[in-house]
Amino acid sequence: MVYAKESVKNLPEYKPARSIAEVSRKYGFPEKDLIKLAGNENRWGCSPNVLKAINDNNAFFSYYPDVNATRLREKLVEKHNVSGENLIFGNGSFELLTLIGEVYIGKGDEVIYTDPSFGWYLNVTLKNEGTVIKVPVTDRKGVDTKGILAQISDRTKVIWLCNPNNPTGTVIPPDELISFVDKVPKNVLIVLDEAYIDFIDGEYIDTVDLVKNHDNVISLRTFSKTYGLASFRIGYGIASKDIIKNLLKVKLPININYAAQIAALAAMEDKEFFDNVIKSNRKELKYYYKEFDSLGLKFVPSNGNFVLVYTGIDGEYVENEFAKSGIIIRKGEEFGLDGWLRISVGRSEENIKVIDILKKILSEAEKK
Ligand SMILES: Cc1ncc(COP(=O)(O)O)c(C=O)c1O
Repeated sequence: MVYAKESVKNLPEYKPARSIAEVSRKYGFPEKDLIKLAGNENRWGCSPNVLKAINDNNAFFSYYPDVNATRLREKLVEKHNVSGENLIFGNGSFELLTLIGEVYIGKGDEVIYTDPSFGWYLNVTLKNEGTVIKVPVTDRKGVDTKGILAQISDRTKVIWLCNPNNPTGTVIPPDELISFVDKVPKNVLIVLDEAYIDFIDGEYIDTVDLVKNHDNVISLRTFSKTYGLASFRIGYGIASKDIIKNLLKVKLPININYAAQIAALAAMEDKEFFDNVIKSNRKELKYYYKEFDSLGLKFVPSNGNFVLVYTGIDGEYVENEFAKSGIIIRKGEEFGLDGWLRISVGRSEENIKVIDILKKILSEAEKK
């Protein structure tokens, strides 16, 4: 028997949403007929520019990719008005979170984050032998910035700050975020995980300014959500040159495939598609709110492409009932939110189907 090291032996397995392949095999649907609303992916697909760019660039795919992602970097330098040395690319934010853990979390370091929040924070922290300190969400399911500040000690090393927060969809008011960042000691790294930032409903600050003014802040962005490129696996971090230099020391030398670089660049050039996704997402969220209200269901207004709703019914049962009808959603129990569901926003006809299934489940539950 070969033993894994202690820090890995005791790690919980990361549990992603049920996959289309899994549900297809279990319930006998062809994969193409299933609708997955469990991973906060983009149901409007991606820009047609992406498919064209992939085709136009296929002559490059037998080369190793450009390790510097030069063209994409130039585009982001322009977008965020930063230097190229302030940027790092990752195989999705997942990889960037992992790198941050490797570089900044050591044995006994305290790491603070919201409960519930994105599940990978736990694995990254424990793998690096950090001590997890979870701060429960407020009554309105928002991130408790005061609670986080109160937990900071001499041993605090990293704060994972998911904003908007997954799975609650809440956003920290801009003034509160600015004053929070100001109050955190400079030797504590604040990781702004901003996977859903484009979906924020209403005006927001440019959080890159926080990075520019604070050497202890890193902002993580992804092409998986608004741009609809989840399968390509590409995201980036913006931080001080020192943070980026250290992260680069442990990054795989070739981590971003060329198709992903091309896809991200092409996606950024299609502003119309991007704006439409945001507009459609808002419209569909409003549809959900109206339906939830008329069903008398409690929900959390969302700043993401997903919504949290309370049915009070066992989540495993509800998830299975949805799967039987060809829709994959996520039970709140996985986030410690018993009786809640997290539903990713789909296209109009898909959301109508979700509500129909939900109505059936609720009326069955009433009969019992
Ligand atoms: C808050 C948050 N961070 C990071 C990720 C991972 O994103 P990526 O696809 O860029 O790895 C997700 C994915 O759902 C997420 O919800």
